Amino acid sequence: MSSFLQADPVQADLVCFNPSCRASYAITEVLYNCPKCGGLLEARYSNLHPDPTELKRLFRDRRASNVPLDASGVWRYRELFPFLDDYRHVVTLREGQTPLLDSPLAAKFGGLDRITFKHQGFNPTGSFKDNGMTCGAAQARRLGMKRVACVSTGNTSASMAAYAAAGGLEALIFLPHGNISFGKLSQALEYGAKTLEVEANFDQILALVRILAEKLGIYLLNSVNPFRIEGQKSIMFEMLDQRDWQVPDWVVLPGGNLGNTSAFGKALREAWEIGLIDRLPRLAVVQAEGASPFYDLFHTGKFNTVENPETLATAIRIGDPVSWPKALHEVRTTNGVVEKVTEQEIADAKAQIGRAGIGCEPASAATLAGIRKLAAAGVIDPGADVVAVLTGNVLKDSDYIYKYHTDKLEAPGGVKIRSTFGNRSIVVPNDPDRIEKLLS
Ligand code: F0G
Repeated sequence: MSSFLQADPVQADLVCFNPSCRASYAITEVLYNCPKCGGLLEARYSNLHPDPTELKRLFRDRRASNVPLDASGVWRYRELFPFLDDYRHVVTLREGQTPLLDSPLAAKFGGLDRITFKHQGFNPTGSFKDNGMTCGAAQARRLGMKRVACVSTGNTSASMAAYAAAGGLEALIFLPHGNISFGKLSQALEYGAKTLEVEANFDQILALVRILAEKLGIYLLNSVNPFRIEGQKSIMFEMLDQRDWQVPDWVVLPGGNLGNTSAFGKALREAWEIGLIDRLPRLAVVQAEGASPFYDLFHTGKFNTVENPETLATAIRIGDPVSWPKALHEVRTTNGVVEKVTEQEIADAKAQIGRAGIGCEPASAATLAGIRKLAAAGVIDPGADVVAVLTGNVLKDSDYIYKYHTDKLEAPGGVKIRSTFGNRSIVVPNDPDRIEKLLS
């Protein structure tokens, strides 16, 4: 490997996120929470004094490179998360490199002049999880771990299965039985992961997996893993790079376990601290009404878990999000907001994103539904420069799409979802005259 790809001689540590603790640990310790206080951990870097102009040029030059590490839309930005000592640990599937897409139709629906989608569904396994997983898998290999595990609402598991397979690691996946889409479950199977469907919800299974991982010496790759967060920072770096480092007014994203919110906030703060950007955008996090503990926390100041989270946007069906302390800090730091939306609002927003020729999975559409609500309430100005992150690919949950368009979609509790923008297929006989009549 050429010296061009070597890490800068910076010091990387794992530091407790709890402001009254801030205990520091070696970057090579297998830790997810602070042994002293139980707080979340994050990667911190010292001796990091890059020249922002040089960095921007370097990132731009790498776009034309065929070196795998440079062609990755994650590792291209590696100076901004220099936790590895040897890049030979990296497993890359050319993750990231996802487009910014303007959509006049979605903007009109949302009540804005303009919306740009950062579409993470263009990733190798179809979701933003690949941005974080390439880093998590690299750290697992660096630590010499043989087995990796996660609980997932589907996308983390699809991603982990792929990166584990590509990197020669054994993947162990825990899923909430009956509550993930077939598309996502199929990915885990196809990539060869050992897959257990547990009769419990995401939050309950996460507690279980944490105990098992510790007992069996398996490396945990949920977003409580700080290296997943480091990788997901690249979504913001790439978005800013694609906009020539022009900062939007708002970045809107869905919130589930709140790893992405934590990653985006950290990325933006760090980019601002080293002078890559001159201000922070405001973060707007959108949750599904039936799984909105973060919305409640933001508006009441008290964190209460939701015992039985319910939403058809199964990716964000989470009642006890582990990263809430980080996410709360990031939303507050950016003067951000947290919104919640109904099942009907998600379904209609999703259909509009589809009509725009873009498409996404249900959880992703919470962004547009949230924008519509926030614009109507006057929180987001109609002329604002808004980037909404679409987290997953349209094909992740085709069952949901078919039901919506055929008027068969039902929210939890049997509440019918109206097929407001429904588009049914038409069954016709093999008869040119009748088909012609139908089409004229
Ligand atoms: N959108 C999609 C498509 C997701 O898969 C997830 C999370 C989120 C949004 C929420 O992101 O957890 O960082 O706030 N899916 C996880 C999983 C939980 O297991 O795949 P978050």
